[in-house]
Amino acid sequence: MPELTMDKLVALCKNRGFIFPGSELYGGMANSWDYGPLGVELKNNIKALWWKTFVQERLDMVGIDAALIMNPKVWEASGHLATFTDPLVECRECHERYRADQIDLARPCAKCGNKGTFTEPASFNLMMKTWIGPKEDATAVAYFRPETAQAMFVDFPQVLNASRKRVPFGVAQMGKAFRNEITPGNFIFRQREFEQMEIEFFIHPSEWEKWFAFWRGEMQRWLGLCGIDAARVHDLEVPDGERAHYSKRTIDLEFDFPFGLKELYGLAYRTDFDLSNHAKFSGREKDVTYTDPISGEKYVPHVIEPTFGVDRTLLAMLVSCYDEEQAPTTGEGGETDTRVVFHFPKTLAPIKVAILPLSKKDELTSVARPLAERLAKRWRVEYDETQSIGKRYRRQDEIGTPYCVTVDFDTLNDSAVTVRDRDSMKQERVKLDELEGYLKNQF
Ligand code: GAP
Repeated sequence: MPELTMDKLVALCKNRGFIFPGSELYGGMANSWDYGPLGVELKNNIKALWWKTFVQERLDMVGIDAALIMNPKVWEASGHLATFTDPLVECRECHERYRADQIDLARPCAKCGNKGTFTEPASFNLMMKTWIGPKEDATAVAYFRPETAQAMFVDFPQVLNASRKRVPFGVAQMGKAFRNEITPGNFIFRQREFEQMEIEFFIHPSEWEKWFAFWRGEMQRWLGLCGIDAARVHDLEVPDGERAHYSKRTIDLEFDFPFGLKELYGLAYRTDFDLSNHAKFSGREKDVTYTDPISGEKYVPHVIEPTFGVDRTLLAMLVSCYDEEQAPTTGEGGETDTRVVFHFPKTLAPIKVAILPLSKKDELTSVARPLAERLAKRWRVEYDETQSIGKRYRRQDEIGTPYCVTVDFDTLNDSAVTVRDRDSMKQERVKLDELEGYLKNQF
């Protein structure tokens, strides 16, 4: 298969409506991306599957959806205000800024080519600042959350009370996080505004190794559900001194992106760092202390945190599921051409079914359009009556639609349609009144 370059992927995403450059009408805004009609479907499907897999299907999990902007004391307690920093250097000539840990400071500036001109590395805090209310002074400063995790710690006493869960149990949340990254880039890989899906799993401290291994297995299972190529995923045991300030053990799950091996997800043993710090800073120690209902033991639960980036999941899926194949055209002469196809898992594909009347004649569209409307009550459906059927199949392959349903002139006699499978390209004749049941079995 020809190499999938980022240029090719970015162009395809823009042309087909997965991901657009943000604010394009105004000349764009660097490193800002908008999810288009197909991208938003794919992203929503990923999030829905994650919630089903890790919240709905587990009796030991509950979810929350907390405010994006929390009391600023939260970020003091969590350590983010003091330590959530990257080392920043600036070229003295052209003032381009870099992360000191990502470049060789002995080499010339990549932008202007001048050598030995970098400033000394300085700690740069990644928190996105804002002001609450009409006064822009120090008393009004607040921060957009840099991770969804903290609300799950801060809400721990209320969740425990309301849900009547017993340790071990987990709290899950998904949503936006903001970081003032020094060097955003590589398409949606590193953004200043992105989405996370996170679990804080509360455990007895003696059981941390067991639960760490359990969640590593669950993360592996999740990769499979998303169609992410397991051969491209590698564990990185993050060494002492390089882990986040709260972690006693971290594994980064790295993915082999076209721009190199980079972090996809993380799994961390956060100990009782967060709960204990919130107890200290809020003065409410009693509220984060858990009493075991059987043994009566009182302790602050420890936490295993599997964390998943939504945007990086989507990017790893695009890379894993992309293919270019030689395939027969619909012509008579046995010719082949290149078909571009996304082999997304069927349940995650942005469009599940395309309804394609063979011609624009009323006889066919009067069957096809109501059929599309009926199926759209269940699945995301696309209706397309333009261009040759071969071109329409290729277009649907290119956006990963698992099934194309063709309404042709035979339909008027046999009340059946042709269903084409994206992956095998096999075609089957299915009775109109059996079509919904047929498709239901595929998803
Ligand atoms: N609560 C732990 C935490 O936030 P992290 O490794 O900093 O850990 C978790 O972030 C995940 O969020 C990453 O594994 C990645 O998938 C995603 N992520 C982090 N920074 C990102 C960025 N700037 N742009 C896109 N995704 C990002």
